[in-house]
Amino acid sequence: MSATPIISAPIDVVSTVEAATPPQLPPHRSHDPANNLKRTDPFQFGSRFLEEGDNVFEFNAWDHVEPDDEYKAFAEVQYAKQRECPASDFDKLRFNADPVKWWNVFYKNNTANFFKDRKWLRQEFPILAEVTQKDAGKKVVLEVGAGAGNTAFPLIRNNENEELMVHACDFSKEAVKVMRESEYYDTNFMTADVWDVSAIPSEENDSLPPGLTEGSVDVVILIFIFSALSPQEWGRALHNIYRVLKPGGRVLFRDYGRGDLAQVRFKKNRYLDENFYARGDGTRVYFFDRDQLEEMWGRWTPEKGLQEPSTLEAAAGSDATQATAKDDGAFDVVRLAIDRRLVVNRQMKLKMYRCWIQGHFTKRE
Ligand SMILES: C[S@@+](CC[C@H](N)C(=O)[O-])C[C@H]1O[C@@H](n2cnc3c(N)ncnc32)[C@H](O)[C@@H]1O
Repeated sequence: MSATPIISAPIDVVSTVEAATPPQLPPHRSHDPANNLKRTDPFQFGSRFLEEGDNVFEFNAWDHVEPDDEYKAFAEVQYAKQRECPASDFDKLRFNADPVKWWNVFYKNNTANFFKDRKWLRQEFPILAEVTQKDAGKKVVLEVGAGAGNTAFPLIRNNENEELMVHACDFSKEAVKVMRESEYYDTNFMTADVWDVSAIPSEENDSLPPGLTEGSVDVVILIFIFSALSPQEWGRALHNIYRVLKPGGRVLFRDYGRGDLAQVRFKKNRYLDENFYARGDGTRVYFFDRDQLEEMWGRWTPEKGLQEPSTLEAAAGSDATQATAKDDGAFDVVRLAIDRRLVVNRQMKLKMYRCWIQGHFTKRE
């Protein structure tokens, strides 16, 4: 949910964020006009840098601003408070046992306009521009956890490829209903279906999305879906994604990064596990670390599954390595970057640090 409405932040968060001065960019970057356009386009990441002398409240957002030590220390205090007052066992069970129930309620209560359309998608992931080109040929895109269709709809609206098919799947039937009832739902280029990415294959159910077979998908889009899974579900999700992708197929990933304001702001009784929380509406959210994602996507194999950090540490100090080397994983981590933004409420003179992680992986041939 990158488009989470910025609700008024609790006052202690506000004052601390306000007090934190963003560090300045090294001169070689801030003085490079190509990096310092001071644009007002909110979808152009990485183009507006804060420099000494800039008025931070002149624009709505600044790119790549690292929170300073004071803010980081404040975040650690917040995490300690969250751990001290975790969710009750009753709530942990409620939120973990049946996550789809909470998402169904969410989509019943929120209109399709809740998330903003992702105009930045094709710019951030050029492969999406490629598959929608007129002469791109038969291309199959699977969006996992597609929600209200805010990624799938802009994709087909800008599509010129007669042979494109976008499978927009979500495990919430209410989300699928929202997509199917949309005025933009065009079955020539899109199908919206119920599918649980963490499903376990069985005799009755091959656990693949409706209408798709093993090795049939060119591009899998994962936008703010992995954070909705519990860590126990990641391995199963990776397996299903691996199975459905063609060799050489791409995974486009964007999700919450650790230290994002949304994490720091969680109050008591919301902490489920380390970096994993339940929102007020019962939906769950995890905050990722870049290196953790590199391990996850770089080392996962269908045979070994996810590598436990303890296995990796043990392997590092031993010749009898059991862990998969990064180059032997089933996916190649082509790109994985942290995307930071300082978002400013100019009227209220508030500063908020946002942090997302964006990745591009391919299924090894
Ligand atoms: C934070 S929302 C993001 C929605 C959409 N990708 C977007 O960015 O607008 C997470 C979505 O993942 C879906 N989801 C959660 N767990 C899922 C699962 N196991 N399989 C498929 N979808 C899931 C939820 O129903 C919800 O629509």
